[in-house]
Amino acid sequence: MTTAIPTSPTPPDQPRSTAPGPASAWWGLPLLREMRRDYLGFCTQLQRRYGDISYMRLGNEHAWDLFSPELVREALVTHADKLIRWERGIEVFAQVLGQNVLVTEGATWQRQRRMLMAAFTPKRMAGYAGLMTSAAHDALQTLVPAGHPAAEVDISQLWSSVAMNVILRTTFGPTAHEESHAAIAATQTLSTAAFHEMFWPMTLPDWLPLPGKAAKRRAIRTLHDIIHRHIAAHRACAAAHDPETPPPDLLTHLLALKDEDGQPGLPDQEVFDQCLVSFQAGHETTATALTWWSHLMALHPHAAQRAQAEVFAAVGLGTPGPEHLASVPWLTATLKEAMRLYPPVGAMMTRRTTTAITLGKWHISQGALLRITPWVLHRDPRHFPDADAFMPERFLEGAPDIPRGAYIPFGIGPRVCLGQHFAMMEMTLLTAMLLQRFTLQPAPTAPPMAPTLHTTLRPQSAVRVLLRPVGCP
Ligand code: HEM
Repeated sequence: MTTAIPTSPTPPDQPRSTAPGPASAWWGLPLLREMRRDYLGFCTQLQRRYGDISYMRLGNEHAWDLFSPELVREALVTHADKLIRWERGIEVFAQVLGQNVLVTEGATWQRQRRMLMAAFTPKRMAGYAGLMTSAAHDALQTLVPAGHPAAEVDISQLWSSVAMNVILRTTFGPTAHEESHAAIAATQTLSTAAFHEMFWPMTLPDWLPLPGKAAKRRAIRTLHDIIHRHIAAHRACAAAHDPETPPPDLLTHLLALKDEDGQPGLPDQEVFDQCLVSFQAGHETTATALTWWSHLMALHPHAAQRAQAEVFAAVGLGTPGPEHLASVPWLTATLKEAMRLYPPVGAMMTRRTTTAITLGKWHISQGALLRITPWVLHRDPRHFPDADAFMPERFLEGAPDIPRGAYIPFGIGPRVCLGQHFAMMEMTLLTAMLLQRFTLQPAPTAPPMAPTLHTTLRPQSAVRVLLRPVGCP
């Protein structure tokens, strides 16, 4: 089934072709139904049938799926300044997140991104490490009750709680973790609501008495209360801090920034919006990656033992820190490979063209949608031999090069994840701490694992892992 694209006017010297893609009968409604049923399977089939690029008509939309590293790079790097994020996604997120770096465009985005980048310099990152390990310490301590040889643990819940503790401490300071439970419940409610609303044609007002709206209102209030409380407390304490050695949390950094006129102090609303980014962008993504990693390590004991031996050799029984990161390449490779097989942002990296562009030999009209699906790119056997197998050695030094654009768990181009080094450091420190304490095995009662696409690529059910304290037979 191949349709000729309803070509938009093409300048005479530009490439123009008939694009491959599925027939879009009934305004694309059957295609939308298939997407809703199994988005990842749908995209995988598109790539198998049509190759590196596929076109479809969905109602008024001209949508293109890009499946090759070259086309992904051409779009997200070369033509980055001619793309904006998909408005429907932005509308859904902006309603919850306000105007922060995840959703803004143009000059506002540039200013916000510059401002936040200062919070992710290597020096600042080193300051976050202690907050990260302290967040994990208590949670890991109580996993297996004293005297028990092992315990079956819901590892998704564990990492969700630890990752939220990390976000709370690194955003607001070491004492912020008390709000963890409320913050987890609120972000999960909002993330589920956002994913459902993404498929609606418009966002209905939150005050309407519809199912889920009351929970959404409560969740927004919870996060707003937490952030406002911390902003007020930080402002009150600011005078007491030594300006030479300010506490290393993100909020202290934001409050110390100057506004565009060089005056000290950003407006509270702007500080507030940027704090919300961490909750939205940095919690579920990291927790999901750690969950898939734990599942894979339980299934691959040799890879896990090698990582464990590496951690003991590099860190011993002490607390891991940024100085150990370079000494655990195998552990790092296992994390990268887990994100290859199960990229937390597995799909829906969607952009709209603001002007006509050329991708490969294809003419893409102004206003078209470009969709990038890491799930499909990451399992392409042309770039990852034995693509469905867990093989961390792909990411060791000396392994064959992976083409740029073929592996994009953090995106690529100017809008690449701002927190990628933060996330890699966090995940390496936390997994090193887990391996120092436990060996992992699949729980006897664990159901088979299948990924399902929400806002992130989550396991369909809770992931249960058997943890055995190191040294126990
Ligand atoms: C394993 C963990 C993470 C993954 C897989 C991940 C993935 C991503 C991806 C794929 C994007 C780009 C989306 C696109 O191009 O449309 C992104 C953007 C972003 N991420 Fe992350 N992320 C992670 C953790 C974090 C953390 C911990 C933070 C902050 C504390 C963070 C902050 C951001 C921000 C602010 C953006 C928007 C950047 C912009 O638009 O300029 N992320 N992330």
